[in-house]
Amino acid sequence: MTSFAEFIQQQLGATDRADLGLLLNQFASACKSIGNAINRAAFTGASGVSNTDNVQGEHQKKLDIISNDLMIGWTQWGGHAAAMVSEELEAMYSLPPELQRGRYLLAFDPLDGSSNVDVNISVGSIFSVLLAPDQHRAARAEDFLQPGTQQVAAGYALYGPSTMLVLTTGQGVNGFTLDAATGEFMLTHPAMSIEPETREFAINASNMRHWETPVQRYIDECLAGKEGPRGNNFNMRWVASMVAEVHRILMRGGVFMYPRDNRDPAKPGKLRLLYEANPMSFIVEQAGGASTTGTQRILELQPDHIHQRVAVMLGSRHEIERIVSYHRT
Ligand code: AHG
Ligand code: MN
Ligand code: MN
Ligand code: MN
Repeated sequence: MTSFAEFIQQQLGATDRADLGLLLNQFASACKSIGNAINRAAFTGASGVSNTDNVQGEHQKKLDIISNDLMIGWTQWGGHAAAMVSEELEAMYSLPPELQRGRYLLAFDPLDGSSNVDVNISVGSIFSVLLAPDQHRAARAEDFLQPGTQQVAAGYALYGPSTMLVLTTGQGVNGFTLDAATGEFMLTHPAMSIEPETREFAINASNMRHWETPVQRYIDECLAGKEGPRGNNFNMRWVASMVAEVHRILMRGGVFMYPRDNRDPAKPGKLRLLYEANPMSFIVEQAGGASTTGTQRILELQPDHIHQRVAVMLGSRHEIERIVSYHRT
């Protein structure tokens, strides 16, 4: 069975992006460390909340901060990062001056679904890699404001019943499972693809009264079941960890929706574009799925700031096409 390092060597070794391969190995190491920190939190006192808030206005968990430190620590030394953006840092992270800079911009959500971490429900880490537009100068925050189509790699770690790493470099999607005996991620899920059809949707139904009409219509039709216009019964899931929902969709199809709601027009959705929506949309499209705001392909959005939020509807292509059609009527 192929290890992550061997796979990366095969996929990137003989290309002009061998440095990206080295960076991705550093991401893999960071995810192993984050998974270990989560697994041992009950012994180390890393559970629970810190007494700080992040730029998102969220009360940070101690593990949000620990995961962020580990993600930076493992990726800043290798000489391939130009700068970083993190859910947990208000401003762009510039590398310490004594470190060698590389040509890749890293954007990450170091701990996704962190509201679940203290109740032992699956959480993850999400990362996105872009090319710095000008490698002859220090990176600036505006360098990160590239459409998602510009990503050169994206991936996530899922800290679940098993720890997995799922990656795309634009040549399909491949899944790796951590072998605790060797500490290696092994290629267990080559060439992952999303079923175009599904009878399973994921949405936080407690927000129903705030949804816009096309979303309301789509969900109502699913809930109407066999007797309704869809002529089928549907199933619902909601884990509250985007990584877990996206992984389930990669494995058995489905639709994930975090739509905009009419509470706050300034906030067009909860999820963040640079380090949640874009990397997950890249992965989903590479696996044959689709990802939209309802009216626009997410990967084509022009970001206007590093913590911009966006509505997200992604998954099985035929269902996403239906949802988009409802936004046109
Ligand atoms: P994070 O923990 O990184 O802030 O992300 C949480 C996100 C996403 O993972 C999940 O799908 C969504 O928030 C859940 O939102 P609700 O708690 O509103 O259901
Ligand atoms: Mn958060
Ligand atoms: Mn998240
Ligand atoms: Mn997070």
